[in-house]
Amino acid sequence: MSGEASSAEKRARLSGRLVAATHNSGKLREIRELMKPYGVNVVSAAELNLAEPEETGSTFRDNAALKAEAAARASGIVALADDSGLCVEALGGAPGIYSARWAGGGKDFGAAMARVERELEALAAPPPWRASFVSVLALAWPDGALETFEGRVDGALVFPPRGTAGFGYDPIFRPDGHDRTFGEMGPEEKHGIPADGSLALSHRARAFQKLSRERL
Ligand code: IMP
Repeated sequence: MSGEASSAEKRARLSGRLVAATHNSGKLREIRELMKPYGVNVVSAAELNLAEPEETGSTFRDNAALKAEAAARASGIVALADDSGLCVEALGGAPGIYSARWAGGGKDFGAAMARVERELEALAAPPPWRASFVSVLALAWPDGALETFEGRVDGALVFPPRGTAGFGYDPIFRPDGHDRTFGEMGPEEKHGIPADGSLALSHRARAFQKLSRERL
């Protein structure tokens, strides 16, 4: 019985309030912008005083799921979490799920980008330095239902970092088919959803396109 109720709720389209299970202001801003056209009221985990769970998973999906599930349980409303990161091919996919941790407690992404460059130098890895951004969005309902959606964008790294827009590793990531880094793009270009239904650019926007097709 509870199984039926849970799958019926799971199929429902999103409306009303949703908690964005993130304490990252850059991600929160992007999630708010993505949700804006759908009339969903996005409240943040910080506004609801929700604790930030430890990211103990070994994949983006595991971490997105545990963040969304914790926020849904604690708030009693549908929760959306993103787990994302930069995967550098020559570094075996690092920093990957440790992308935030490479910036340290002070969230110093200048230092994190310098570490990526240092590690590539140490390996004498020749350019182009192939990399991708990956985002898994997890939607969790208070009754335990869970859905995940993955988006990815491929590109190459550039040094020194270029541009001051965006956040995190944006200044060193140049998506394929573009001359500029994410750090040199405005928000609309990076994570806008094309009105003609074509593929969005950023990993998070691509994951969001999958989510919106089914849930918005
Ligand atoms: P987490 O998902 O909160 O564990 O952290 C993901 C980390 O990956 C962020 O803190 C950023 O460093 C990086 N990241 C994820 N998405 C982006 C993006 O769109 N631009 C730049 N960096 C990103």
